[in-house]
Amino acid sequence: MRVLFVASELFPFVKVGGLGDVMAALPRAMRVLGADVRLLIPAYPELRAAVRVTGEATPLPALMGGGPARLLPAEADGLPLYLLDQPAFFGRPGNPYDHPADLPHRFAALAWAAAHLGRAGAADGWRPALLHGHDWPAGLMPAYVTYGEGPRPATVMTIHNIAFQGRFASSLLEPLGLPAASFTPEGVEFHGDIGFLKAGLKLADRICTVSPTYAREIQQAGGHGLEGLLAHRNGHLQGILNGVDRTVWNPATDPHLVSRYDLKHPSRRLPNRPDFQHRLGLEEGAAAPLFVAISRLDPLKGLDLVLDNVDHLVARGAQLAVIGTGDPHAEGAFRQAAQRHPGRVAAFIGYDEALAHRAFAAADVILVPSRQEPCGLTQLYAQAYGALPLVRRTGGLADTVVGVTPGTLADGSATGFQFDAPTGWALGEAINDALDLFQDGAAWRQVQRQGMAARFGWEGPARTYLELYGTIPGER
Ligand code: ADP
Ligand code: GLC
Repeated sequence: MRVLFVASELFPFVKVGGLGDVMAALPRAMRVLGADVRLLIPAYPELRAAVRVTGEATPLPALMGGGPARLLPAEADGLPLYLLDQPAFFGRPGNPYDHPADLPHRFAALAWAAAHLGRAGAADGWRPALLHGHDWPAGLMPAYVTYGEGPRPATVMTIHNIAFQGRFASSLLEPLGLPAASFTPEGVEFHGDIGFLKAGLKLADRICTVSPTYAREIQQAGGHGLEGLLAHRNGHLQGILNGVDRTVWNPATDPHLVSRYDLKHPSRRLPNRPDFQHRLGLEEGAAAPLFVAISRLDPLKGLDLVLDNVDHLVARGAQLAVIGTGDPHAEGAFRQAAQRHPGRVAAFIGYDEALAHRAFAAADVILVPSRQEPCGLTQLYAQAYGALPLVRRTGGLADTVVGVTPGTLADGSATGFQFDAPTGWALGEAINDALDLFQDGAAWRQVQRQGMAARFGWEGPARTYLELYGTIPGER
């Protein structure tokens, strides 16, 4: 089966969040199962410099006023790509969402190119039977399929985060090549604007999101205005959990660690802690429980609840490290917290992939206090690396962490800590639970082992996506 993924990020070239990780892992896992999955992505400079172009270019019209455009077939470590090469839109390095003026044009071009591949195929003769778009940057893909001419490939949209919707002024209808007839509630219109994600969710044959709990939440209070549409399409909406790419996230082979380890050699984990503490300017030693958060600093990630608990953690003898970037107010607040508690609290404001790996290998607890979390990957990486995740019970966090209770400790299912209310107080209570368990070395190690043994592989999710494709009527 020929499937084209359509997305704006791909680890390790361009990654803002978990979407990049998923795009690197899921198509490869589906290919292992025999599906011919390829990825359409903009030809960002970081990608152009790193991947091999493998064949003839497919000429495209000058999409969305962005000048010359073409598709280049390429390959990244066995994953076939089509690069949308349109230098006026994608020639700048850095965060792909950083150029607001032409943001809608750029991702409309991406979506149009996907629909074109589905209709006409590439110069190398490859034509996908199914187009699978990810998040709002691919949201107009089902619209260009619906309102275009010619054969109609099947369409699927996955929501990685419904908080980002790609909503733009209706005056862009014509510049984006959308017919006037598409501007209705049944099409691309959303509260008087053009809704990229909304259009995709309305018009795609199937909708996925990245956990079963989030699939329920977005039909209720958590849909950011799209709950009605999603509840209406309930029969065609499915939550499929993300997995862990063990070629990247495996403490036994991780090149970033000073000491590699696995379930059978847990003591080899220990040297990673002083190394990490040293790098962040924390007091070295094993006595203080080490809490770490690795996150985009975005209000939905709930890091303000961690700020509320800085003094509490320090008073209880713990250490805290925050690795993150985003909201300038949060960045400043964590910097100040680190200044107030030198050696006990550290803030690394920035994005550092290697440091993230080292943090998972050093931490006792990974804090994920999200207000909303579609799936979340850091709680999965924490488990794989023997850090206990402490999470708010929402979205994928609820689906992938089993909270410590007397029952789950006894039956061997506990893998971390959970709390419910999105308040500093509730997080503080969960921190207390973690500190209590930390006193009981044997119990702590048991929970750690259970997390390390948990298998959040990609094969299961890859199979489920293929089964879902099979439910769409039509010849493929
Ligand atoms: P989201 O996609 O909403 O940001 P996820 O938990 O799915 O959340 O994925 C976040 C990814 O980004 C993980 O791979 C995490 O390790 C990484 N990450 C987030 N912030 C940083 C940072 N400051 N430095 C390094 N990696 C980070
Ligand atoms: C989004 C979500 C995150 C999810 C990731 C990959 O960025 O915020 O929860 O894990 O996409 O699906």
